[in-house]
Amino acid sequence: MDKILILDFGSQTTQLIGRRIRDLGVYTEIVPGDSPLSGILNPADKADKGADVIRGIILSGSPESVYENGPAPDKAVYHCGLPLLGICYGLQRLNYDNGGAVEALPEREYGRIGVKMRNAEEEARREDLRGRSATEGSGGSHERLTREFLAAFDPAFSLDALIGRSASGAPPPSAPPVAASAAFTAWMSHGDTLTRLAPGLREYGTSHTGYPAVVIHDAKPWFGLQFHPEVTHCERGLEILAAFVFGVCGCSAGWTMEQYVEEARRVLKKRVGDNPVLLLISGGVDSTVAGALLLKTLDPQAVHLMYMDTGLMRKDETKTVQANLERLGARRLHIIHCEEEFLAALKGLDEPEAKRRAIGDLFIAIQEREVARLGLPDSYVLAQGTLYTDLVESGKGVGKKAHLIKSHHNVGSPLVDAKRQAGRIIEPLDRLYKDEVRRLGRILGVDEAVILRHPFPGPGLAVRILGEVTREKCEILREADAIFIEELKKRPAPGATGLTLYDEIWQAFAVLLPIRSVGVAGDVRKYGWVLALRAITSADGMTADVYPFPVKDLLEISTRITNTVTDIGRVTYDISSKPPATIEWE
Ligand code: XMP
Repeated sequence: MDKILILDFGSQTTQLIGRRIRDLGVYTEIVPGDSPLSGILNPADKADKGADVIRGIILSGSPESVYENGPAPDKAVYHCGLPLLGICYGLQRLNYDNGGAVEALPEREYGRIGVKMRNAEEEARREDLRGRSATEGSGGSHERLTREFLAAFDPAFSLDALIGRSASGAPPPSAPPVAASAAFTAWMSHGDTLTRLAPGLREYGTSHTGYPAVVIHDAKPWFGLQFHPEVTHCERGLEILAAFVFGVCGCSAGWTMEQYVEEARRVLKKRVGDNPVLLLISGGVDSTVAGALLLKTLDPQAVHLMYMDTGLMRKDETKTVQANLERLGARRLHIIHCEEEFLAALKGLDEPEAKRRAIGDLFIAIQEREVARLGLPDSYVLAQGTLYTDLVESGKGVGKKAHLIKSHHNVGSPLVDAKRQAGRIIEPLDRLYKDEVRRLGRILGVDEAVILRHPFPGPGLAVRILGEVTREKCEILREADAIFIEELKKRPAPGATGLTLYDEIWQAFAVLLPIRSVGVAGDVRKYGWVLALRAITSADGMTADVYPFPVKDLLEISTRITNTVTDIGRVTYDISSKPPATIEWE
């Protein structure tokens, strides 16, 4: 199978690059950016006809700077002859390593930035590209690759036509030159820029602030973007990735979720063997899908599902979770009631990371204790429904260079690390994003209501009750949140889509703020808690936009909450996107 190798230098969005390309049907493999390449590019099993063939390499972004000892690739990458695509830091790396200069910008470029393309034909006329033909020898195949890549910037470019052409193996049409006026809005996040291009590199697109945004080498199949085509907010992003993967690298699409399931099953059987497996179920989509994968792959008698009722769950969560898992064939479901212990562990804590750590440690402590009580042998395998976003945002992404934003409880514990090192952890979803997990769930026959359920964080309501968590606050928030969600499920989305607001929103929940405000109820002064409602749209949780609520719905929902949950005196709506905010408040 054709594949694209991604060198991960630690950007928060590296996995998204892989995701987008997999969505196009091409397999991707992500390795730490500084991995030695000889074994990867020349695997021992090369003779095996079924072995994957690397068709191109992407150099990811990074929070580091090239001139401050940022992570560097094995130099072999520049001699392997494969097409390279440098994204943000990846482009800076490629430029710097080959004799160009990279310097800090006076001001960081962040968010949506306009990019204007130059007319490729004019360029070619202006500069007679004799150098290219001399290098290529075979009469302009490099020029063809350049055109294939630049075609993505042409407003007339058709992604479907490119995919169809790649599937049929038809030869490329002579790609139209990019119109002189081609301009689009890219998504950028960088503090450094190219200030001198390495010999052979040429600027084809410029950001409206005047810095190189699209760069191509005159003779080698090297392409570079100062922006992030993998981010959904980047116009032409998917087209550019497709042009690189299909047009430049010549990949054919052969990667599907069905294949992923087959592969995940094979790995599960091999890793687990005859040992029992224990999966901690949180009640969300991820762990339910992970549970379904275990139940449909292994002997259900060997699959122990442990659910902790931490007291930090949504309303009626325990009942719903139990019903869902039994429907999926669970035989050994262990429900642990440990609300008192969690509330005691959280007492007096108001700092978000301290709360997350306390919850993570207690999860593991209770799990150890309860496992001992279950009498499972030491060889039991711990399964987790960890997603890639959980790993990458905990600074544990594949390249291990990402900066810590929040420690997610399921990956932050030393005990989990110890089990991981002992090779006793399986995380069958750890290469998937949320919407891919939903697709997987459908293939496994998980109930649609579970699949469409909004994500819920591992630490539960504790990260939605700002400051100290108390039983009383949990109860207030549970009631308010249940009303909010119930209302979203019964209100139609604007436009005749047939969807409800709940369907249109990617994640919605209520947050209890640690402040009270003055109000009046029935002529009496009321000093009630302030509740924030959060509703966002997103493709994968990595970036998020605020859901543009119809005001009427917000007003009615707010009224119902303050009328029903009398401890709440005021409701606000959170209008922050991610970034700069995160989805959860803590
Ligand atoms: P943030 O708040 O980081 O959230 O923008 C991104 C997505 O992840 C969920 N989330 C978590 N999920 N354990 C989890 O399993 C956690 O500790 C955790 N924290 C946040 C969040 O609800 C959103 O969908």
